[in-house]
Amino acid sequence: MAKIVTISSSKGGAGKTTTTICLADYWAKLGNKVGLIDTDPNKSLSRWFEKGRSNGYFEGIEFRQQLQDKQIIETAKQMAKEVDILLIDVAGIASVSLLKAAGIADLVVIPAQPNEDDFLEAANTASIVKEAMELTSREIPWKTVVTRGKQNTAVLKHMVAQLKKLNFPIFDTIVHDRTIYPTARFNGATPVSLEPSGLAALEIEELAEEIVSQLVSDHEKKQKQAA
Ligand SMILES: Nc1ncnc2c1ncn2[C@@H]1O[C@H](COP(=O)(O)OP(=O)(O)OP(=O)(O)O)[C@@H](O)[C@H]1O
Ligand SMILES: [Mg+2]
Repeated sequence: MAKIVTISSSKGGAGKTTTTICLADYWAKLGNKVGLIDTDPNKSLSRWFEKGRSNGYFEGIEFRQQLQDKQIIETAKQMAKEVDILLIDVAGIASVSLLKAAGIADLVVIPAQPNEDDFLEAANTASIVKEAMELTSREIPWKTVVTRGKQNTAVLKHMVAQLKKLNFPIFDTIVHDRTIYPTARFNGATPVSLEPSGLAALEIEELAEEIVSQLVSDHEKKQKQAA
């Protein structure tokens, strides 16, 4: 069974779709079979993926669109049998889809830009993940990734410091604000494909490695508890 990573925030424009497809592209290029599910009625991941496919990118990624919240769990379970890692992109509102996509996940990644609204919505998303934990009676790890951080700015440093002070789980990797992200999107690509040695590709690699470490340590913890 694949590990399922849901990328969600109840805030629009936090960087969910960008993070999702960049990670998918990175893991696929390493030779993993990657699954992607777009659950967002805006279908932005679908458009990005289809454009990329027609431009010769995204080999090794299996894509499905599932806009019916009733079908999300079934679709994810089916796909999880066929791939090594499954990523689910969710619309930027508190929704039944978000609750379900969190409920089936091994890890929920919550992107947040360094501003107060994104921070509050990250906290709101974390509370939805906690509801999913209560419903499913299982531990669902979640962690925030700061996105579109402007290098060496006070606001970025302040956001990271505040999150740490509040013991908010946060990845060390910062996804910085870089024009390569929207540029890649126009081309139906990602920085991993367009500039594999660039700084954006490097930070995607770092984030992907942090996510894998988190999944491995959670898996080991579960095995110990079961023993
Ligand atoms: N690291 C980045 N650097 C520069 N621009 C970025 C970065 N990440 C995302 N963007 C831009 O920010 C906008 C929102 O990003 P994205 O679509 O990934 O967010 P989202 O959370 O999926 O939004 P929605 O809630 O609408 O689905 C897009 O225009 C995207 O190109
Ligand atoms: Mg999106």
